[in-house]
Amino acid sequence: MQFPESEEMKMSPESYPFVVRPLPYEYDALTPVLEEETLHFHHDRHYKTYVDNLNSVLADYPELQKMSLEQLLTKLDKLPVQIRTAVRNNAGGVYNHELYFDSMKENCGQEPSGALAEALERDFGTYQNWKELMRQAAVSQFGSGWAWLVADEEGKLIILQTPNQDVPDLQLYRPLFLVDVWEHAYYLQYQNRRADYVEGWFGLIHWRKADRRYEEALHRMDKGWSHQSHQAGVAAAT
Ligand SMILES: [Fe+2]
Repeated sequence: MQFPESEEMKMSPESYPFVVRPLPYEYDALTPVLEEETLHFHHDRHYKTYVDNLNSVLADYPELQKMSLEQLLTKLDKLPVQIRTAVRNNAGGVYNHELYFDSMKENCGQEPSGALAEALERDFGTYQNWKELMRQAAVSQFGSGWAWLVADEEGKLIILQTPNQDVPDLQLYRPLFLVDVWEHAYYLQYQNRRADYVEGWFGLIHWRKADRRYEEALHRMDKGWSHQSHQAGVAAAT
């Protein structure tokens, strides 16, 4: 994934060794929905642990060290079987957290805009209807996991759930944003009240950035993204 503007938290486009990306805002920017302490624990400890673990897993596999996060995640079945689960969990943990942190901003009444706003209406009827379905996906995800808004190869918007640190099939879907429903994302403030955390999260969605991701996805579709992504992954894995 490539984002054109420097204000954005880059999605680790590089390869091994992966680095912890700083938040694209201050630790207190998302209060009161997400307090400073929650973000420190989540970003500085949980996310960092996935970065450290991924580097540790890849340390003994120089042939895999040129692969990007996306290539690792789309070629899991080509990786040595003994590290496949560890890469799945930790590369997924890095990818998911970077997109999650990068998909939020301070709550200032932002709303869907641009092509994404039109697509939300086309595919879900109304924003409120989309919000209700997204809320259900986040709240009903059993155990730890994520709820996603993604675009398919034709630009249709789809809500997905993934367990643990799993990532949707990146050859079929372009993620626009996601919400972390692991307890570590909200327990310090909300304890077991996941629904309250999710309700607050809706106000933090960085819609302008999500629209840019959607337009980038549409652009890539015009150029046959699925084929390109597949070829890039094959090239890197061989
Ligand atoms: Fe998390």
